[in-house]
Amino acid sequence: PSQERLIVVSNRLPFVLKRDDVTGKLVRKSSAGGLVTAVAPVVVDCGGRWVGWTGDCSFGVEDEIPEASEEDTTPTAGLLKHQVVPVNLNQQQFDSYYNGCCNGTLWPLFHSMSDRAVYSTEFWQDYIQVNQLFADKTLEAIELTSAEGPGIVSLVWIHDYHLTLLPSILRQALSEKNCNARLGFFLHIPFPPWDIFRLLPWDDEILLGLLGCDMIGFHIEDYCINFLDCCHRRLGCRIDRKNLLVEYGNRIIKIAALPIGIPFQRFQKMAEEAPRLIKEKRQKIILGVDRLDYTKGLVHRLKAFERFLEKHPEHIEEVIFIQIAVPSRTDVKEYQDLKEEIDQVIGRINGRFSTANWSPIRYIYGCVSQSELAAYYRDAFIAMVTPLRDGMNLVAKEFVACQIEEPGVLILSPFAGAGETMQEALLINPYKIDDVAELICSALEMSRDEREVRMKNLRRREKMNNVDAWAQSFLKTIRAVTSDQGSDS
Ligand code: UDP
Ligand code: G6P
Repeated sequence: PSQERLIVVSNRLPFVLKRDDVTGKLVRKSSAGGLVTAVAPVVVDCGGRWVGWTGDCSFGVEDEIPEASEEDTTPTAGLLKHQVVPVNLNQQQFDSYYNGCCNGTLWPLFHSMSDRAVYSTEFWQDYIQVNQLFADKTLEAIELTSAEGPGIVSLVWIHDYHLTLLPSILRQALSEKNCNARLGFFLHIPFPPWDIFRLLPWDDEILLGLLGCDMIGFHIEDYCINFLDCCHRRLGCRIDRKNLLVEYGNRIIKIAALPIGIPFQRFQKMAEEAPRLIKEKRQKIILGVDRLDYTKGLVHRLKAFERFLEKHPEHIEEVIFIQIAVPSRTDVKEYQDLKEEIDQVIGRINGRFSTANWSPIRYIYGCVSQSELAAYYRDAFIAMVTPLRDGMNLVAKEFVACQIEEPGVLILSPFAGAGETMQEALLINPYKIDDVAELICSALEMSRDEREVRMKNLRRREKMNNVDAWAQSFLKTIRAVTSDQGSDS
């Protein structure tokens, strides 16, 4: 039987390169975000290849990918330089494809925030061009794989909204070369309903691009159904809602709901080993951890906390709210405006409620390493994961994995994919600010017995449905639907 090699393609490599100001040497810095956290261990474990952008527009053909430094203990460190196939984007492509189309158009639209989406033909042209560039690099990786020996088949696993056109470009190129490869795609963000998706001037092109795959995975069934519906209504495809199939041309494309998980054991271990960060044990920590993104509901959350302090002054000096916000997409105006608004709201709340020995909000604007995050997760009494919309949300899962001491409470938005399965969390609509304020109070007052039962069930589920299980079920499904293409390994 033929053998299989994994090639992962995503906009971002699992690290960003930074040029040292003094020496000019390139060094790897870890990049935050759910996709990278989940997929890096998979590629490292199977010795696959990773095609992606270096995160540095000054990176050129003359530059080499550095190996990880010795201090780097993240899963990404195991990714050796010969496994990395870099894609170079110039400044103009970065502005137009990444900031413009990906994060100015597709990100808000797919999160059903259509009033924030901009539609620009120029951005779209660059999106097409960059997807073509990724196709060229992926073909190079496939050729490297084929050169390893006869009968070796590439399994190309493409990730996220940056690369929706890549599957059909690749399928076309592979068929011209008479070359075989399995093509799978996973979308890490929601897929919107038809009446939102149809606002996109290039809706058909995106659907046709994705249908170049053998299989497409989404986090939850709702996103699958939305996608099927769009294929049916926009392209007239025959669909099978029960078995999640789309027929296009003479092919059947498998759609699957595969909720992503986390490396549970790794987080638990980090929580066991991390030193205590906060000394004042008597204060209860309410924690938020997010990229600074308008989908995360940060302003609503802060206002709910403010309302809580207003309505429940008995808790003043008894709780602290720690918000970690990772700078993200800082060239996009929506993100700059949000940063300003958050600074203002936090200033107002701290100004209003601080006492001589206490301020209600501790705000960390920066990226914290996961081993340090584990300590925050472990020591928090409440985690507030209240996005207005979120594909899955790994923070909710990492929190429960790290709750190895006195059990705390997870407050979770039903508008995150995680809200579908984490039923023992306290689910609340983040737009209902008064109700969120009251829920903080109930969480603080919840009996230990109830916290324990809820947390035990949450932990058990996440331990079982971890990231390995997720990756394996993706790979198993795509192998099953492409079994005529060779390997059954
Ligand atoms: N993260 C991190 N450092 C931080 C904050 C977050 O490494 O300071 C990681 C976090 O551990 C999680 C990911 O970033 O794995 C965020 O994933 P999530 O699915 O919650 O949201 P996304 O950023 O993908 O929208
Ligand atoms: C989300 C997206 C990822 C993205 C990450 C960080 O998780 O699904 O594709 O990598 O956010 O965003 P950035 O724009 O910095 O890559």
